[in-house]
Amino acid sequence: MSIFRNDVLAGQVAIVTGGGTGICKGITRGLLAHGASVCITSRKQEVIDATAAELEAETGGKVLAVSSDVRDPEAAQRVVAATVEKFGRLDILVNGAAGNFLAPAAALSPNGFKTVVDIDLNGTFHFCKAAFDELCKAGKDKGACIINITATLHYHGTPMQLHASAAKAGVDALTKNLAVEWGQFGVRVNSIAPGPIGDTEGMKRLAPGGMKEKVLSMVPMGRFGRSDEIANMAVFLASEAGEWISGQVMVVDGGNSVVQQTILG
Ligand code: COA
Ligand code: NAP
Repeated sequence: MSIFRNDVLAGQVAIVTGGGTGICKGITRGLLAHGASVCITSRKQEVIDATAAELEAETGGKVLAVSSDVRDPEAAQRVVAATVEKFGRLDILVNGAAGNFLAPAAALSPNGFKTVVDIDLNGTFHFCKAAFDELCKAGKDKGACIINITATLHYHGTPMQLHASAAKAGVDALTKNLAVEWGQFGVRVNSIAPGPIGDTEGMKRLAPGGMKEKVLSMVPMGRFGRSDEIANMAVFLASEAGEWISGQVMVVDGGNSVVQQTILG
């Protein structure tokens, strides 16, 4: 049972990059469950095909799976064209594809830094650019939106996360600038910054083994988040409930990012 009316996104069409796995699979499920049709894209066709079949069976919605590497601007154009050919329009773009690993800055190679910035930041730019014309058409009609999946890493200095922090800081800048430039076309641009979400690739990579307990001790709500909690924010932002929200980062993290460690604990 959803906390939203199940037709709040009826007739809308979305693209979700990184939609085959983890948090963005959860967002795809949420969009489908509220009436949207969704194109999911990532590099591995077999992964997005499996997710498309699973979520169509689960929600009764329509999913198109088109492989792409978000670092390739022409691939982004192909994904948008395939989506519009299949579903006839584009209302919602979710940029969630990302790459990350733990690496101390002194040991990070130029290509390691570049790779993460290329996927997270440049990939987001390529899809926003590729989607612009179609989002403007939807924007003139009912309104359109972009939701960028960012993080809270760059709110403070985060060890071994120079590459991802720089990339996500760039994503937040892109969110604000596009909100300012594209609001006139009826296109809202926001970010969601998840805190630590359990059972995700991100958590496996960034908090391996015993580090999970340490991460948990920094979450005031006392538990990891769930993908459906991030999906609820995406549905809220894409729905009419979010129609005057633009240029914002919605932090969904159980209070994790406001914790200040002191000598008192
Ligand atoms: N530590 C340090 N450097 C690393 C690294 C690690 N754990 N993993 C990759 N790199 C470096 C590589 O050494 C390479 O640099 P080099 O040419 O100087 O050696 C560079 O990053 C690119 O690696 P490559 O494996 O060619 O990249 P890719 O494009 O095939 O894959 C990654 C991109 C590295 C981000 C890969 O981990 C990935 O595909 N991740 C997707 C899933 C994910 O990260 N999910 C979590 C999201 S929060
Ligand atoms: P995930 O499951 O690994 O999701 C990343 C997705 O991006 C994968 O589906 C991957 O699919 C795709 N991808 C990676 N490189 C790509 C490329 N070059 N081109 C196209 N697609 C690519 O990880 P997750 O943990 O759920 O993270 C999802 C998002 O949430 C990311 O933006 C991440 O930064 C953010 N986030 C996560 C957490 C967390 O706790 N997990 C916290 C804060 C923010 P392919 O391998 O098939 O390409």
